Formats: sequence, structure tokens, C-alpha cells
Amino acid sequence: MKRVFSGVQPTGNIHLGNYLGALVQFPELQQDNECLYCIVDEHAITVPQDPKELKKHILDVAALYIAVGIDPKKSIVFVQSEVSAHAELGWILICASNTGELFRMTQFKAKSHGKESVGTGLLTYPALMAADILLYDTDIVPVGNDQKQHIELTRDLAIRVNNKYGKTFVVPDGRFLKAGARIMALDDPTAKMSKSAVNEMSRISLLDEPSKIKKAIMRATTDSEGSVRFDMENKPGISNLMNIYSAFSGKSLEDIEKDYEGHGYGDFKKDLVELTVDGLAPIKAHYEEIRYSDELVRTLHEGAERADAIAQKTMKRVREKFGLGLE
Ligand code: AMP
Ligand code: TRP
Repeated sequence: MKRVFSGVQPTGNIHLGNYLGALVQFPELQQDNECLYCIVDEHAITVPQDPKELKKHILDVAALYIAVGIDPKKSIVFVQSEVSAHAELGWILICASNTGELFRMTQFKAKSHGKESVGTGLLTYPALMAADILLYDTDIVPVGNDQKQHIELTRDLAIRVNNKYGKTFVVPDGRFLKAGARIMALDDPTAKMSKSAVNEMSRISLLDEPSKIKKAIMRATTDSEGSVRFDMENKPGISNLMNIYSAFSGKSLEDIEKDYEGHGYGDFKKDLVELTVDGLAPIKAHYEEIRYSDELVRTLHEGAERADAIAQKTMKRVREKFGLGLE
């Protein structure tokens, strides 16, 4: 059995990119693996958060996890800050990293671009992410493409520590999907779909009403050629929509091209609206049942206990290897 770990930040607006890039992978992996799915609230505070909103968003993500099909009897679902070893190993891995490699991270560059000063946590965040993963001897990390560089850094840190102190960490692999790995903004297919974009029509959130989904897709930026053909470089708008279509329908891009030969974008978009609304409807319904149940909080407490038991074993080993604490 392999160990799987992934996390999502509780920062609101969980969107199609999060779902088709990462979350959709979570339930299918729990059949044959031991999975831990975390709500990474300590990552969220790398940028300012309203404490009340943050607390709400933690439960929102937890409910969405279960709504997309994570079974808390099979998988461990928990909140990062409820297991103190994340912050502890995070510090140790900050010390194992160097500033050069952290400054090179494209996500850091994008978030700090043009600013005179940003929070230190934005820079050291990949070391905390590495801690999340290495704490559980993780083999597989299902994520979207934007996390590739962070996974590489996690591997580098694991290998570096293993070389210096002897075998301490398992070196993990990322798991990326073909169609969903990088979903772009609907209003600007050169930018990735994100939680923080100002234009609501740039994304589809998992709990959006069908009318909003329809509006966002029908208005999505395409091109003037009018043929449903996949070409990310020259036709990024329609290609992005085709990726979403492929992820929901399971059809290959070639088959989609064949199906829409001779049809305009209007027909394609109408079908995509239907696929998306139908794909998200069961998640929305399940979410409403779970979000305000007492069981959700119980599940998270239990998850944290199970996670902590694994984490403590790793921390004992790490302290020993690094020479921390008493004899
Ligand atoms: P975050 O919202 O940054 O916590 O991301 C949670 C998960 O969603 C990570 O695995 C990301 O790689 C993935 N993700 C975020 N945005 C996108 C996107 N536009 N396309 C595909 N995956 C994404
Ligand atoms: N950095 C990830 C993101 O922004 C979230 C994350 C934190 C994560 N820790 C992780 C993902 C560990 C996978 C494994 O999307």
C-alpha cells in the first residue's frame, strides 16, 4: 500500500481548477492506498486572513472533500494546524533549505512581483509544504501542475537530508492529470484559474448556481476562427474549454474535435454548460448535507488524532537524526 498526501488551502472559492487538477484525484486514490487529505490552514496565513472567515473556510473545504467522494472511514481528513508536527518539521526544513532555491520558486516570484516587501511566509512556504508531505512518508502527491516546482523542491530537500543524515525521508512523486492539470481563467486563458481573481466570471466555483455557470461559460473568451480544435498556443480559450469538457466527459480531445466538426462554439459551449452543471450537481447536494453537521467536526478531530500518531513517529526519527533534544 502506498501513502498519498495532498492539501488545499482554506481560502474560499474552491474552483474548477482545484477540482479537475487535484480534488477529482482524491477519491479514486483511496481504493488502493492509505490517503491523508489535509486542509492546510497554516499555508493560508502566508497572506493576511480574516480569522472568522478562515475558520469558516476550513469547514467549507472539509465538507467539499467529503462531498467530492473522500470517505473519512478510508482516508484521514484533517486540519493542518491541529497536528503541531507540521510547523515543527516546517522549521527544520526551512533550515535545510537555502534562500536561493526559495527565491527561485515561480509562485513566490509571481506573488512578490512589483512589491517592495512581502511576508516571509510567502518565501518559506514551500518548506512547510515539504514538511506536510515528508511527515507522512508520502509516496504520491496528487496536485495540479502549478505545484510541480514545489514537489521538485520537496524531493530535493528529502534527498539532501537523506544524504547528510542517513535515510530519514521517503522521496515522493507528484501525480498530475492530463486534462485538468492546468485549468485557465475563463476570461483570460493566458492566466490560470485562481481563487483570488477579481472577476467572478473568470472562474466556476464548485458551489456556483447553474445560471452563473452558464453565464461564465457562454461568455468565456475564445477566438474568431470558430472551429473546435485543440491548440493551446494559438487557441488557448477553446483549448481550455476542451480540457474542461474532456475532464467531465472522459472523452479524448481528438474525439471532442470529431464530435464538433462543422459546429460553432455556441453548440460546444451549450453542451459544456450541461456537462459542468451535471458534474457539479451531486457535489453541491452532498455538500449541503454535510457542511453544518456535527459529524464533520468529529471527523476532523478523529482525523487529526490518526495523523498525529503517524507524524509523531516521523518526528522522533527526525529529532534523532538531526541531534535535536536530549539523549
Ligand atoms: P490551492 O487552492 O492553491 O490550495 O490549490 C489546491 C490544489 O488545486 C493544488 O493541487 C493546485 O495545484 C490545484 N490547482 C489550483 N489552481 C489550479 C488550476 N487553475 N488548474 C489546475 N489545478 C489547480
Ligand atoms: N501549496 C499547495 C497549493 O497552494 C497546497 C499544499 C500545501 C499542498 N501543502 C501541500 C499540496 C502538500 C499537496 C501536498 O495548492
